[in-house]
Amino acid sequence: MREACDATARGFEAVVADLPEAVRRGRGERWVEGVFGLHARHAGNGVGYDSICASGDHANTLHWIKNTGDVKDGDLILVDAGVEVDSLFTADVTRTLPVNGTYSPAQREVYEAVLAAQEAGLAAAKPGAKFSDVHAATIRVIAERLHGWRLLPDGVDVEATLDPENGQFHRRWMVHGTSHHLGLDVHDCALARKEDYMDAELKPGMIITIEPGLYFKADDELVPDRFRGVGVRIEDDILITEDGNENLSASLPRDPDDDRDVFLEVKAGEGGEESALFAGDLARMYLRYAERVGWRTEIVDASPSDLGGYKDVRIAVSATGTPGPGEAPWARLKFEAGVHRVQRVPVTESQGRIHT
Ligand code: GLY
Ligand code: MN
Ligand code: MN
Repeated sequence: MREACDATARGFEAVVADLPEAVRRGRGERWVEGVFGLHARHAGNGVGYDSICASGDHANTLHWIKNTGDVKDGDLILVDAGVEVDSLFTADVTRTLPVNGTYSPAQREVYEAVLAAQEAGLAAAKPGAKFSDVHAATIRVIAERLHGWRLLPDGVDVEATLDPENGQFHRRWMVHGTSHHLGLDVHDCALARKEDYMDAELKPGMIITIEPGLYFKADDELVPDRFRGVGVRIEDDILITEDGNENLSASLPRDPDDDRDVFLEVKAGEGGEESALFAGDLARMYLRYAERVGWRTEIVDASPSDLGGYKDVRIAVSATGTPGPGEAPWARLKFEAGVHRVQRVPVTESQGRIHT
């Protein structure tokens, strides 16, 4: 599962780096699907399930796998994808990213509500808790936010909507459960009895997803204009441990205010000329993205030759500056000359990674 999550993270990084190309080509959702699929197929057996590449309002169609839409500047794109490694275990990760690197204030408002819900779910995911406790924790935050936005019907407060019999008004906007077991199947053991699944205790070694979302369709007249067409899901793969949990997909940033230093290193492996060529292409891909979103870019170390030479390309990236309102984590990356800290990481074959 660790391998599956790591390979999935690399697939997402490749998707983010190539978003400008997805915008430029039209039918960009297919481009995104293809880029992730290439990495899935190269790193493992393939995708663990049909990738959901849903830009703009498509994010509000729960299993949007047609992926026929454009990817547009100003939209969010929801990517729900996982690499199934050769052992046949699969990851299942969702990130909802602003295509141009910056959340609009309304997009950020929705994103932060979903993130807060996910944090509540993470806090609840520990041994001894019931599987359903995780959903109860996330959905309470979702209900609170919806209530705060005055979206629940008049007279319905948080407790009233959480009432299982007479409430559930929030389900219009969060239309799925928060978690499922994950492993050999993306919805592992989905046919297990209720007492062994929903009502069962979480135990160390189990892996579940935590994936709250909020979905405001473009034609939903119950929500304010600013929210229409905004759909957000954040999904991580969580190992239950003896004393809590470990987020196996944590290497992919989730928090727009996350100001950890980030380094990108692209380095050719031992694969000779072919591997050096691949590293060079990957480095260029990241640079194209950086330039497109207006970062100052500089190759701080590309030894022994330069990018044109396709040899042992290494780019160190550090995050600097104060995030602007609505900025995505990667929007704060600055390619800097003379970085103050360079983290050397072992890179086996030709691989690009963003290390946080
Ligand atoms: N990708 C399917 C799911 O998140 O459950
Ligand atoms: Mn899932
Ligand atoms: Mn998923």
